Amino acid sequence: MLSGEFSYDEFAPVYEKYTGMIGRIAEADETAAFLERFCGGRSALELGIGNGRVAVPLSERGVKVEGIDNSDNMLKLLAKRSDLIKAWKGNIAAFSSEQHYHLLYCVYNTFMVLATREEQIACLRSAAEALDAEGIVVIEVRVPDFDGFVRGQRTTTVFVDHENTFLNAEIHEPLNQNLLQTFLWFSGTSVRRIPERLRYVYHQELDTMAECVGLELVERWEDWKRGAFTNESKRHISVYRRTRL
Ligand SMILES: C[S@@+](CC[C@H](N)C(=O)[O-])C[C@H]1O[C@@H](n2cnc3c(N)ncnc32)[C@H](O)[C@@H]1O
Repeated sequence: MLSGEFSYDEFAPVYEKYTGMIGRIAEADETAAFLERFCGGRSALELGIGNGRVAVPLSERGVKVEGIDNSDNMLKLLAKRSDLIKAWKGNIAAFSSEQHYHLLYCVYNTFMVLATREEQIACLRSAAEALDAEGIVVIEVRVPDFDGFVRGQRTTTVFVDHENTFLNAEIHEPLNQNLLQTFLWFSGTSVRRIPERLRYVYHQELDTMAECVGLELVERWEDWKRGAFTNESKRHISVYRRTRL
């Protein structure tokens, strides 16, 4: 199963509302502040830029941000928000860039949308090749969590308020480390169904894949405030640079 079978085109109309409800918009400035530290006045490329949730505040800090996304509708949302950011349609599993960037970043579990190991390695390889000599790659992914799975299935209540109920139904395929998830959004009399296939990775597997393409770990944190990564951490933010021999 390749990535690209599921598109964010259907998610785009509700993306801003959803990310607002789960607190992702509230943390976008903190994310931008974290990333700005690595830019040193130079340029950045976001993999899976979406509607610019992070790219817009980062560009407002004076960073020249560019981005890649494979959803026309997400790219349209970005274009409506900012004309400072150059973004193009492409697949983050296989991209090439003539330009070299000081920072490449892939946040909010976007790396997991690459549903095979080969695609994840190809993405890291493309990222490494697009870096300038001192460049940095930042990846944010959640720590795999299987609490509540029964016979390979789990349904989680993501969010409820007076108007919205957001559920996530997941099926685990251990063989390929895939989660086939379907978001179900009930609002008024409508139900939206948004399927997605994800491949989870543990942090040590991510390090190994990064090493395969000539990157080495520099820092790892549990959040954008640079909290320590521990056994209890729910996600990690991993920072890589070119391997120094
Ligand atoms: C979880 S959203 C994150 C968007 C944005 N980075 C943010 O933090 O809000 C994942 C984004 O990756 C894009 N995407 C998914 N698969 C992709 C692929 N193979 N190549 C390029 N973009 C992809 C989606 O269209 C979507 O905009």
